[in-house]
Amino acid sequence: MEHVLEREDRQEELTKEIKSIVKEIENDDLKVVTFMEYTSPPKEIKPKVIKFNKALELLRLIAKQGKIQKGVAKIMFYSPSTERSRGLTPTMMAGFQYIEPGVATKPHSHNMASIYLVVKGKGYSIIDGKKYYWEEGDIFVVPANAVHSHVNTSNEEVVLFDVTDSGLLENLGILEFKEED
Ligand SMILES: [Fe+2]
Repeated sequence: MEHVLEREDRQEELTKEIKSIVKEIENDDLKVVTFMEYTSPPKEIKPKVIKFNKALELLRLIAKQGKIQKGVAKIMFYSPSTERSRGLTPTMMAGFQYIEPGVATKPHSHNMASIYLVVKGKGYSIIDGKKYYWEEGDIFVVPANAVHSHVNTSNEEVVLFDVTDSGLLENLGILEFKEED
């Protein structure tokens, strides 16, 4: 896999004397970098259009199949060009959540924050023990590390669209996800 940052260091050009001191400092778990020639940002991140109708078709099928949770589906999108960030941009990821009527998602938390748009349906979210009601067109926020679950109280399907900063955390190698008991 390619690295997000391309680096060229000229360690090989060090004199013998310097190399031997570097060797004394280094061990299996510690390396010395004497100077970096340059770094470059990730390659171009391309604009994207995600078709809602196709996404909805997929969500309905996943929820119906119920392999992860009966009546619930979650899909997320990323551009391979963001490499280890796995985002649509190096800092952000987006996706859809689908909940069948009368179903609640399993409570969980993560250190990414999320902003949701209610695309379809009506219900509420329990965020750190408190209920927040929403309906089509509303926006709600789940802060980082808040335990949350979403409940569909209507007779119709619920579709939520969310944008998170998971790309940023994934890129830093500190993305955490916890499922509650
Ligand atoms: Fe979540």
